[in-house]
Amino acid sequence: MLIDPSQQAELEDFHTVTSKSRWGVYMISVTRIVGLLGILVTVSACDPAEDRPAPRVNIPFTPEISINEVMVAQIDHAAHFIWDAVNPDNPAAEIDWLELEHHAIQLISSRAAITMGGTGVNDAMWIAQVSWREYVNQMNDASLMALDSARSRDRVGLSSASDRQVESCESCHLQFKPSIPTEGFSHPH
Ligand code: HEC
Repeated sequence: MLIDPSQQAELEDFHTVTSKSRWGVYMISVTRIVGLLGILVTVSACDPAEDRPAPRVNIPFTPEISINEVMVAQIDHAAHFIWDAVNPDNPAAEIDWLELEHHAIQLISSRAAITMGGTGVNDAMWIAQVSWREYVNQMNDASLMALDSARSRDRVGLSSASDRQVESCESCHLQFKPSIPTEGFSHPH
């Protein structure tokens, strides 16, 4: 198809204009992005948000189960799995590290239940004691250590974590545990 020379000139002008304005738009976007990045860099440089843990919301509630039940059904089960694994008679090849992680996490998560109390007759009284919370934290720290050791396949670390766990159970029991469980649930192992 033949194009009239004047139309051709118009078309060329149009082309130049559009590519210029496209270039302009492109330049504006680049400037904006660079500017935005600058702001982000400045914000993240001034704000130590990265180092801060994610915000937590504390919602008080009372579990619908007793501390006696949590001890038997969750804490004791999870702890025994860890203690059995570090038994020197247990061959290293038999250690199931992933299951160990899961049991350490069960102990860590039980902290909330035994900090909030529950349906047991003494639960509210126990959780109000300062030393109760100290023992709970002690068990939690030992369980975090067990989790780290499981994740790094560190049998020696796991063994000292389990010693610390036993210590936390025994110290708390010595001070708080009645000789007969309040609700009749006892050691299944
Ligand atoms: C913060 C205190 C505290 C810690 C820590 C604690 N317990 Fe307990 N535990 C208690 C109390 C109190 C009872 C009695 C509950 C009841 O009778 O109502 C109990 C009861 C139990 C029971 C059931 C009663 C029995 O004699 O069989 C078992 C099993 C048990 N705990 C295991 C453990 C193990 C294992 C650990 C450590 C990994 C542990 N507990 C850590 C306070 C604690």
